[in-house]
Amino acid sequence: MSTKTMNIKVTKTSKSRIKEIDFDNLPFGKYFADHMLVMDYADGKWGEPEIVPFGNIEIHPATSALHYGQSIFEGLKAQRNESGEVVVFRPEMNAKRFKESAERMCMAPVSEEVFLEGIRALIELDREWVPTKDGTSLYIRPFLFATDDYVGIRPSEKYKFMIINSPVGAYYSEPVKVKIETYYTRAAEGGVGRAKAAGNYGASLYPAKLGQEQGYRQLLWTDAKTHSFIEESGTMNVMLMINDVLITPSEESDTILKGIAKRSVIEIAKSWGIKSRRTKSFCC
Ligand SMILES: Cc1ncc(COP(=O)(O)O)c(C=O)c1O
Repeated sequence: MSTKTMNIKVTKTSKSRIKEIDFDNLPFGKYFADHMLVMDYADGKWGEPEIVPFGNIEIHPATSALHYGQSIFEGLKAQRNESGEVVVFRPEMNAKRFKESAERMCMAPVSEEVFLEGIRALIELDREWVPTKDGTSLYIRPFLFATDDYVGIRPSEKYKFMIINSPVGAYYSEPVKVKIETYYTRAAEGGVGRAKAAGNYGASLYPAKLGQEQGYRQLLWTDAKTHSFIEESGTMNVMLMINDVLITPSEESDTILKGIAKRSVIEIAKSWGIKSRRTKSFCC
C-alpha cells in the first residue's frame, strides 16, 4: 500500500518484524526497524525522499564510496520521556553537522528540512520500535554515500541518502577502561577529523584492536604532532573536571568532532554556575 505523508511518499511493509525482537535484550546496532528513508542525488539535484520497507539495496561494483571513501554518517537517539512521548535529542544540531561533513568531503549536502522531516516521519511510522526500558533508545542512523559507478578519483556526481533506525540498549553497559594512545593518530590538523566520515572509524580499528588486546575497551586519542595532548575518544568527546572547572579540548582544531552531548553538557554546566574552559587541547 502506498500513501503520501506530507511530502514524503510512504510504502508500508506488508509484514512487521517487531514481534521477532526481544526488547529485554537489545544489543547495539543489530536489529532494524521496519522502514527506512531513501533519497537519491543525480544530475545536480536531489530527488524526492521516500520511505520504504527496510531491506537490502543493490549497488554497482564500481560504486565510488566503496573505492574512494566518500561516505559520512550521523548518530542520534529517540527516547521516551516520562509521559511516554517519543523525543529526539537536538536533531537540528546533527542536521547541521551532517551538512558540514558533506561539505568537507565534497558531497552533495542534504537540507536540514529533509534530514529532520525524514527522521520525524520515520519515527512516526515506527513509533512502536522506540523501546521503553531505562537506558534503551531507538538509534537513528542517517548516512550519505557516493554512488557514481565510476573508477576514478573525483567527487561523485551521484549520491544516496538514507536513514535507518535500530532499537538499542546502552552502547557501553559498564565503565569503559581507556588507553591513552600515543603512537597512532585519529586525525591531524588539516585532515578530516571534524567530519563524521566513515574512513575515520575504519582507520581507528587497528589501533583500537591493539588496545583491546591489552585489556582496554576504548582509546583516548592524542594530537598527531606531539601525542601529548588529549583530543577525544573513538566514540565520545572527553571532558575533565579539575578543581571544579570543566575542561574540554577546543573545537577550533579541525581534529575533533563537534559533539552534541559535550556542547549540551557545557550549556547545562554553565546554567548551574559551573565554570568551563575550552583549552587548545589538554595535556596528559
Ligand atoms: C569520534 C566521536 N567523537 C565524539 C562523539 C560524540 O558526539 P555526539 O555527542 O554528537 O554524539 C562521537 C559520537 O559518535 C564520535 O564518534
